[in-house]
Amino acid sequence: VAQKIFITRKITASGVKLMEDAGFSVTEWTEKRDLTQEELIGHCKNYDALVSAGPNKLDKHFLNECRHLKVIALHAVGFDNVDVAEATRLGILVGNTPGVLSKTTADTAFLLMLNVSRKAFYHHQRILNGEWGFFDPTVNLGIELDGKTLGIFGLGNIGTEMAKRCSRAFGMKVIYHNRSRNEEAEKELGAEYVSFDELLDRSDILSVHSSLNKENGAIFNRDVFAKMKSTAIFINTARGAMHDEEALIEALRNGIIWGAGLDVSNPEPMLPHNPLLTMENVAVTPHIGTSTEETRVEMVRLIAENIIAGLKGQSLPYPVNPEVYKADTSEKQH
Ligand code: GLV
Ligand code: GLV
Repeated sequence: VAQKIFITRKITASGVKLMEDAGFSVTEWTEKRDLTQEELIGHCKNYDALVSAGPNKLDKHFLNECRHLKVIALHAVGFDNVDVAEATRLGILVGNTPGVLSKTTADTAFLLMLNVSRKAFYHHQRILNGEWGFFDPTVNLGIELDGKTLGIFGLGNIGTEMAKRCSRAFGMKVIYHNRSRNEEAEKELGAEYVSFDELLDRSDILSVHSSLNKENGAIFNRDVFAKMKSTAIFINTARGAMHDEEALIEALRNGIIWGAGLDVSNPEPMLPHNPLLTMENVAVTPHIGTSTEETRVEMVRLIAENIIAGLKGQSLPYPVNPEVYKADTSEKQH
């Protein structure tokens, strides 16, 4: 019998085809709602591999209930929803989709930055409400991007693409803060490595491109916003858990910073009456960072390559926990 793959959402068809052509049986969850945790566990019991698309929590409980899974392929680059150490301990291979979504995600950050700087979503909302108004030379002005300083928190693939866009389009000066220096980007973009405090102090636009880890949860808090310029725009297309949303709302209300563009929130989705949704200087999109036709085709290709390799007992081409291969402590051999 063919080994079986369960997918938590309908994904781009070319990915399903790759897995079926490799001889596997594929089932997609096609309802327009998230599986509950219990439903997810219940389904996975009957499958050999999982493609996880969306916010499923692949925590200790899930992994232990589903320790028979050979491979989990994430429809994402971020893997903060997975207890990777536990997956490794159980010998479950986990893969993600790095690289192919970097430009698209940077585009999303760029889109939000432009939007906020000219209050485009706000003006659009006014138009929808029939408020064209009259020409008023001093009201609802935006701010200029040309020649400003872009601060990148987390200069990896995505941050580099954002930096390229901003330096080429607007001649922006690029500064960044990382756990480790990115000398390639320094050379290519003239990016300047700075301390976290200096990043806050100097950025006109501060864009978050780090992955979420144990050290940066809610790192953008009240004290941090207080150190930013009152004219600064904060952009987050990475993970909502990296900013304290109450503190952000307060900072925007009190003019501590000027604006914000968010593709991610905390919680996600936002609650309906979140004040961020009606602020003039805020643009919000619903986690569409990677959502282009082209990128989704590439993401499902990487997913299929991960799943096929995992089910064949080979190393994943895009592994999150390559340590599985060397861990003799692993409870399961592949
Ligand atoms: C999306 O959020 C991703 O991690 O790819
Ligand atoms: C994503 O691919 C990143 O490393 O930024």
